[in-house]
This record gives sequence, C-alpha cells and structure tokens, in this order.
Amino acid sequence: MISLSVNSKVQELDVPGDTPLLWALRDTLDLKGTKFGCGTGDCGCCTVHVDGEAVRSCTVTVEEVKGKKITTIEGLPENHPVKQAWLKEQVPQCGYCQPGFIMQLAAELSLKPTPSAEQLISQMDNICRCSAYASIKRGIKTAVQMTKKEA
Ligand code: FES
Ligand code: FES
Repeated sequence: MISLSVNSKVQELDVPGDTPLLWALRDTLDLKGTKFGCGTGDCGCCTVHVDGEAVRSCTVTVEEVKGKKITTIEGLPENHPVKQAWLKEQVPQCGYCQPGFIMQLAAELSLKPTPSAEQLISQMDNICRCSAYASIKRGIKTAVQMTKKEA
C-alpha cells in the first residue's frame, strides 16, 4: 500500500510503487480533471502541484511523491485568481488542456516576486491542441492582475 496526500486528504492506494502518479489520480482516485495527453512530459495536460511546485504527473511515480502534498485541479479553490481569470476571460475551447495550464500558472503565481504576464507567457510551454493561445494569454494577464490585487 502507498499512502498519498491528495487535496488535503490522506489516501491509501493498493498500486505498485512504479505506477505513474497520473494513473493513480485518474484510475484509482477517480480524479479525472488531470488529463492524459502525451505521457512523455511534453504537453503539460497532466500538471498537478507537488509540495506547491508544478509537476507533470505522467513523469513521476507514486513512490516518488509519497509523503508529499499533492494538489490537483479539483483541490485548487474555486476563488483562486487563475480559476476566476479563466472564467472572466472564457479561456477554454474544448477545455481538455486547461487544467494543466491552470495548475502550471497557479504554481508560477505563488512565486515571490510574482512574475510578469510577459514572463509567464514566454515561459509557459504547455500545449493546447485547439490552439486557444490568444485567450490563454488574456487569461494569464487577468490572473496576474487579480493576484496583484489580492497581495
Ligand atoms: S500527459 Fe503528462 S506532459 Fe503530456
Ligand atoms: S482548449 Fe482544447 S486542447 Fe486546449
């Protein structure tokens, strides 16, 4: 058994230690908000937080994250500035890649000092198959403004 802390709840999972975290979240814990895209660490669809840092959950095993604090899109508060900005700007098209973008951005915005929207836009390498990058950029700018207001 592997014990994982997911969204502030300790869960006992009967899975081999080399199971990718992504499979454990989706298939064992039924947290389907974290998406499978490439499985090779390239697209960012599967991004979650591990001890507050953005991690592509297809690239780490449950053994590697046991004892750490894992947060998925379901555990990010609804009033988080990134979720609020995404709603305000109506960012998603199909929505498939969006949890990954939101979790990546939320981790970056927790850094001090807060990065600028331009920095975030240039460094964000998640992939959107709908190519909704124009609305994603709007969402990033609004999320940065909302984060600054909160601080
Ligand atoms: S599914 Fe993990 S990075 Fe693409
Ligand atoms: S909104 Fe469809 S894949 Fe990004």
